Amino acid sequence: MRVLSLLGALSLALGAHSRHHASDHRHINDNPKRIAIIGAGAAGTSAAYHLRTLSTGAFPLSITIFDRASYIGGRSTTVNAFSSPEHPIELGASIFVPVNQILVNATARYNLPTDSHGDRKPDGWTGAALGIWDGESIVFAQSTSSTVWDAIKLLWRYGLAPLAAQRAVKDMVERFMGMYDGTWKDIGEEAGRVGLSAMAGLTGEQVLKEKGVSDLFAREVVQAATRVNYAQNIGVISGLETMVCLAPDGAMAVEGGNWRIFEAMAKDGADEVLLNTEIKKVIRHENGSYGLTFTKSKVTRQGVKVFKDESAIFDEVIIAGPYQYTNLTIQPPLDYTPDPVPYVSLHVTLFTSPLLLSTAYFKQPANTPVPLVVLTTLPEADYPRDSNKPTNAGRPGFFSISMLRTIVNPKTQQTEYLYKIFAPDPLTPGFLAQILGIATPGSFEGFPENEVSWLHRKTWDSYPVEWPRVTFERLSLGPGLWYTGGMDSFISTMETNALSGMNIAKLMIEKWTKAAGRLASESTLSEQDMADIEQKMEFKLKR
Ligand SMILES: Cc1cc2nc3c(=O)[nH]c(=O)nc-3n(C[C@H](O)[C@H](O)[C@H](O)COP(=O)(O)OP(=O)(O)OC[C@H]3O[C@@H](n4cnc5c(N)ncnc54)[C@H](O)[C@@H]3O)c2cc1C
Ligand SMILES: *[C@@H]1O[C@H](CO)[C@@H](O)[C@H](O)[C@H]1NC(C)=O
Ligand SMILES: *[C@@H]1O[C@H](CO)[C@@H](O)[C@H](O)[C@H]1NC(C)=O
Ligand SMILES: *[C@@H]1O[C@H](CO)[C@@H](O)[C@H](O)[C@H]1NC(C)=O
Repeated sequence: MRVLSLLGALSLALGAHSRHHASDHRHINDNPKRIAIIGAGAAGTSAAYHLRTLSTGAFPLSITIFDRASYIGGRSTTVNAFSSPEHPIELGASIFVPVNQILVNATARYNLPTDSHGDRKPDGWTGAALGIWDGESIVFAQSTSSTVWDAIKLLWRYGLAPLAAQRAVKDMVERFMGMYDGTWKDIGEEAGRVGLSAMAGLTGEQVLKEKGVSDLFAREVVQAATRVNYAQNIGVISGLETMVCLAPDGAMAVEGGNWRIFEAMAKDGADEVLLNTEIKKVIRHENGSYGLTFTKSKVTRQGVKVFKDESAIFDEVIIAGPYQYTNLTIQPPLDYTPDPVPYVSLHVTLFTSPLLLSTAYFKQPANTPVPLVVLTTLPEADYPRDSNKPTNAGRPGFFSISMLRTIVNPKTQQTEYLYKIFAPDPLTPGFLAQILGIATPGSFEGFPENEVSWLHRKTWDSYPVEWPRVTFERLSLGPGLWYTGGMDSFISTMETNALSGMNIAKLMIEKWTKAAGRLASESTLSEQDMADIEQKMEFKLKR
């Protein structure tokens, strides 16, 4: 069911009745609406930005974003190679694509320079840019390109399969763009409306077969893409997420870090961003407002972490991150709580080294360097029997090793290589030594500087195991209590979560607009009463 279009609703409140009307209904309720957003990632900062801009001043707002982390960006954040601010490296989400309107528009609006995530070949490099390793051999290597998509275009090995896959991706993207129109009250319903349910409800393997993509191409190329992007094989991941993995044509990243987009949106949209502040409790009062209790932490000059508990009252609350990791206590208990979702535990290792990957380890002839980016797949015999193990790296033992770029070591002034490894288990010093063809030290700290000069490890609950599904968590958990996180089980990207935040902002404005309109004629009900009634009706419809 489609709700009233946002623009229609807004023009009722504003355009048709002029600015004068807008200030009229400001008199009805002079106090700004107090909005709390829990989470300063893509979803929360986009919600703040879109609440502020799409309400076009019709509703005075006071927006506070909270995050327990010390930074804005959530799963989009950087660390500094060699601990030098000159070398920020993406630790989480690294790329987005030109069809990602919210992100791309923001880079233009805030003048954030992007670099194409293109060729990163060192000068004079004659080896392959990208190869696919199945744990026994490099089944395919591509010398001239850097994106999976460019690579596959050239592959005679796979016949027309790349074209069939490309058509399916184009179709997916066109349908997905429909989700930017109007608003939606349920992700599953919206997926049905734009025609993405079928892809979402089948595995990648099933969808590829249906689209006429050969098994060989599906296993060697598409699966390499689902593994590097989502740490999952095509027998597990949904067809929709599989297509998303094939879409990074024209991939880009913000120089300095994609989090800069979210920082800029937060500054633009919110009145206040409280970092190092964890929301513990959300209490719904009789009068409909929400009391939030939170703990602020800071590190004293003596290096001691101190905590301070505070609370504040809000009119509406947006939970903008996976519910299961918020650790919130909500009182009174909700009628509906989002289901816990299995998340991938992803081990990311960043390191710098003057060394190239070992030809012996990757069974390459000594005069043939290992490709700069090594993606992985399962050997044919293992395909597709991995379906019961959602994050099964199989024989390779890791999902990807990418040489991101060359980098000058500030200590030695030598040019080195910067690598990123994705794996389902913690990396061992022995594995790192093997892939570099060097002696194994007892610990990561034991590597000599001239072998591994900098290393950073991080374990993420990175994204859900994207099993096929057609229903998703609700957007409204109670009257005035909103949730963006259902999107992660549909498509987990910075853009889709930002879209989820934008959609919630539009829904809230629509609700206020309708309530304000009715208030003018039937003034016996308060705005909050109206809002509550609407929410209750919405719940009845759903059950
Ligand atoms: C390694 C990795 C690689 C990825 N690669 C890509 C990629 O290339 N491209 C792409 O588009 N996407 C990628 N993703 C996915 C992308 O990062 C996420 O889909 C997106 O950033 C999620 O945004 P979000 O705002 O929904 O959630 P999050 O970014 O998780 O934000 C939620 C925030 O809420 C905060 N929070 C939670 N509970 C509380 C509380 N009680 N009190 C205060 N704060 C709280 C958390 O600290 C967190 O900052 C990748 C993810 C990872 C981990
Ligand atoms: C992004 O900008 C384009 C061009 O101005 C516009 O048509 C589109 O609606 C914008 N998208 C979003 C989500 O704001
Ligand atoms: C609602 O109730 C809470 C708790 O009793 C109170 O602190 C708050 O001021 C009341 N009113 C509004 C408009 O929030
Ligand atoms: C949430 O609570 C669980 C169980 O008490 C705990 O293990 C986990 O570390 C907490 N998460 C965060 C992010 O604080």
